[in-house]
Amino acid sequence: MNVLVIGGAGYIGSHVVYELNDAGHRVTILDNFSTGLRENADARATLVEGDMQEIPLLDRLLSGNGDNGSGSGDKFDSVFHFAALKAPGESMEKPGIYTRHNLIATMELIDAMVRHDVRNLVFSSSAATYGNPEYLPIDEDHPQKPINYYGYTKLVIEQTLAWYSRLKNLRYAALRYFNAAGYDVKGRITGKEQNPANLLPIVMEVAGGKRDKMQVFGNDYPTRDGTCIRDYIHVNDLATAHVRAMTYLRDQDRDLNLNLATGTGYTVLEVIREAEKISGKPVSHEITGRRHGDPAELVAASNRAFDHIGWKAVHSDLTQLVESMWNVYK
Ligand code: WQD
Repeated sequence: MNVLVIGGAGYIGSHVVYELNDAGHRVTILDNFSTGLRENADARATLVEGDMQEIPLLDRLLSGNGDNGSGSGDKFDSVFHFAALKAPGESMEKPGIYTRHNLIATMELIDAMVRHDVRNLVFSSSAATYGNPEYLPIDEDHPQKPINYYGYTKLVIEQTLAWYSRLKNLRYAALRYFNAAGYDVKGRITGKEQNPANLLPIVMEVAGGKRDKMQVFGNDYPTRDGTCIRDYIHVNDLATAHVRAMTYLRDQDRDLNLNLATGTGYTVLEVIREAEKISGKPVSHEITGRRHGDPAELVAASNRAFDHIGWKAVHSDLTQLVESMWNVYK
């Protein structure tokens, strides 16, 4: 298939581009390199440098009229959209930039796709759409009540997609990631995220000597060691799910809302200990107060992904997650 990957040089997007190319698809990346890295863009893809917020650029790319920048000029069969902001804390301080990047730009993309009759979208949604868990593991029928503006933006786009599906026959897969982590197990992607806010890259920066120490946000949660439990999912597993979701949209002509998770959770201290074991370096940390908005435990069921696209995580045990990251950070 001929596919457009917006944000294809970013952390998750770059892994999906490799997976798409490995599977023989024709890929065009649109990236403005605000956070994406050139070195992570698969050289087999056609690269268009630009901003998805420029609607004339989207129109040109999606039109399928001759020189649309994708190399062939053929119309795209599917679009993947990874070009969003993703820091829940920041979204509470600066909702305006999340409004523009995550809501307005994505709504314009959806409308442009319909305008040009490009009808399959694989969308990066989030565990953050659920908010505080009412039961565990979280399944796709769990109420969606986000507790931060970031999660709200992802939920609004899911709802917009459902409307466009009904009104305009757009087909979409909303993939709700839990805690994405890891790096390409084949070692092809080595550009590190800059200024990471997530646990695993921070742990890696301490082990690798880039930071002196890190904070553990609370050890008085009702969990096995008092620190929060999260469901970490390897980015290669995420990538496989994206390619299968794309094929499903084409073959089944039905929408998908899927959790991408393992069902197994690890505590913050378990992650730190595993990193120390694999790196052979100490990960110096101090226990501080709880971070606002952190639920004690988040784990999810992915049975629906198995039933619909035959997917389950195969690289997401803690050892593989940490090893694949340490290969990049060491
Ligand atoms: C994991 C655990 C922290 C940093 C986020 C988004 C969520 C989704 C996945 C995108 C928590 C603890 C962290 C540190 C720590 N993103 N921690 N010290 O918040 O579970 O999920 O990513 O859709 O929407 O909220 O991930 O990596 O920030 O934290 O102790 O320096 O590590 O308290 O328990 P989170 P995270």
